[in-house]
Amino acid sequence: MFYEPNKKCPFKIDPFKSIVFPRPIGWISSISKNGIANLAPYSYFNSVADEPPQVMFCSNGSTAYGKYKDSLSNILSTKEFVVNFVTSTLRNQMNISSKDFKPDEDEFFFSNLKKKKSKLVKAPSVKDSPVNLECKLVETIKLKSNSKKISIMVIGEVIGIYINNKFIKNGRVDSVSMRYIARMGYSEYTTVSSKFSLRR
Ligand SMILES: Cc1cc2nc3c(=O)[nH]c(=O)nc-3n(C[C@H](O)[C@H](O)[C@H](O)COP(=O)(O)O)c2cc1C
Repeated sequence: MFYEPNKKCPFKIDPFKSIVFPRPIGWISSISKNGIANLAPYSYFNSVADEPPQVMFCSNGSTAYGKYKDSLSNILSTKEFVVNFVTSTLRNQMNISSKDFKPDEDEFFFSNLKKKKSKLVKAPSVKDSPVNLECKLVETIKLKSNSKKISIMVIGEVIGIYINNKFIKNGRVDSVSMRYIARMGYSEYTTVSSKFSLRR
């Protein structure tokens, strides 16, 4: 099988998201100018540099209420956000937070999630996430689009990192015990539950 995505896709459901996997989920919290908190999962997400540490996520498409998704609108106006990580036990709350809520609706409330005051940014953190990355906006990049769908990549500098002490063992992060979930294609997810080492 070989196909060119710009021509006719030979699948009923475009398999692109099922090929590049697993994708980590950046659970992005932000706050509007009016002080309304917002939370939504983004799996076009990753870390992209470390001196200084930087992350990116990509907002694709709009909402029923505006040109940009709320996370992007808030970040463009406040220049900051938090990346929270989703564990297996938080999966349903993550899913609820992905609904197209109105800009003045707080997903923390609807997903029954506790907020934690962030240390360096106004956006709240997800209290039950094992890790929160407090970020300042570096830049946004408008990606190529063949349709009316707007794709904007958001790059943030990580200025504060919270790690729950429970997951620090012998001076190292015990990543597997956090049970992060990651996105595959369709409605599929995976849990990080094993690891192996390979020295370079
Ligand atoms: C696991 C998961 C991953 C998602 N990844 C993305 C993504 O990378 N980019 C995107 O634009 N939407 C993504 N979505 C959809 C957004 O979460 C959804 O549009 C949400 O309502 C956006 O909220 P906001 O308007 O508060 O930012 C994802 C949804 C789920 C459940």
